[in-house]
Amino acid sequence: MSHFAPVGRVPGDPILGLIEAHRQDPNPAKIDLGVGVYKDSQGLTPIPRAVKLAEQRLVEVQRTKTYIGGHGDAAFGRLLGELVLGAGSPLLAGQRAGVTQTPGGTGALRLAAEFIARCLPDRGIWVSDPTWPIHETLFAASGLAVHHYPYVGADNRLDLEAMLAALEQVPEGDVVLLHACCHNPTGFDLGRHDWQRVLEIVKARRLLPLLDFAYQGFGDGLEQDAWAVRLFAESLPDVLITSSCSKNFGLYCERTGALVVCAATPDTLVDVRSQLAFIARNLWSTPPDHGAAVVATILGDAELKAVWLDELEAMRRRVAELRAGLVEALAPHGLAERFAHIAQQRGMFSYTGLSADQVARLRSESSVYMVSSGRANVAGLDASRLGDLAQAIARVC
Ligand code: LMR
Repeated sequence: MSHFAPVGRVPGDPILGLIEAHRQDPNPAKIDLGVGVYKDSQGLTPIPRAVKLAEQRLVEVQRTKTYIGGHGDAAFGRLLGELVLGAGSPLLAGQRAGVTQTPGGTGALRLAAEFIARCLPDRGIWVSDPTWPIHETLFAASGLAVHHYPYVGADNRLDLEAMLAALEQVPEGDVVLLHACCHNPTGFDLGRHDWQRVLEIVKARRLLPLLDFAYQGFGDGLEQDAWAVRLFAESLPDVLITSSCSKNFGLYCERTGALVVCAATPDTLVDVRSQLAFIARNLWSTPPDHGAAVVATILGDAELKAVWLDELEAMRRRVAELRAGLVEALAPHGLAERFAHIAQQRGMFSYTGLSADQVARLRSESSVYMVSSGRANVAGLDASRLGDLAQAIARVC
């Protein structure tokens, strides 16, 4: 008998599976709003010019492909720490924050999960309902007990009071996962006053925040999006932050991210980092180099950084325009009010409020692909197809 016969089958990935389904659809009018990637007006996920320029430089100057250390490239670590925590961060100056380079933001989440499981046993982790589906499976895979706090009400709007009331009940010491900006999948972000209220609960209940920061620069701007991260880092003894360079540097396939740890003292930070290096060694040994080398080249050079900042801002603005454009395109169908939230949400995604049935009909009747939760990747829209999309939505509403 085959060893593998009893293995069984698990369902395909709820997000990545859409890439293949869309690719195989022969309908030339198909629309892909599935996986969270930015697309330009040609429907391409572009390589930013700053990345191309940095890659050209790297080809010339790189002399070795030897391993980089367990925490990754030192220049990347220094520059990413400044990007996330701010160039003048008191934590960086006080050696209370450290960066561990990881294979993408997902790698950072897995490293954090393994660290919690190994070093802080018996802590549950609380994620928003809904959240990125991989949060659920990734934390469970590390053996953590995953719990939920409400985030969206029956009216498909942020329900802050329900969220705060649930956080008040979280057992002391547990970990709470918060989306630092551009909440995935809903696009509903907390305001500054809301963040202050969350912080008070986190302090009072001595919770450990894990801030997922995958979309820096796609919400209100690079610095503005870091506001909550910096507030938490500077107000609490310990914070975990997962950062991704997939979207803001367009480095999706290069798997470039980091786990940023803020600890109460420099000495504790050294302890934590020793654990992270050990865990990383047993997960992926050392991180891939190329994407981080590109990021370090860009952030370390004023000219390249200026090119990148312009490109990032252009992407951010385009997504905001697409949001407004979709609501406008829905207006002739009498749906502008019902979908007004699309223009108010932040980041790449919109939690449209469409049901799983409506999403299935959009796919079968109009070849429109989105996640069954009703999440649409607005950043994947083509401005010239807004009318077609609005019509397809109107047909299922
Ligand atoms: C998404 O949510 O679509 C992105 O974060 C890509 C992914 O890995 O799922």
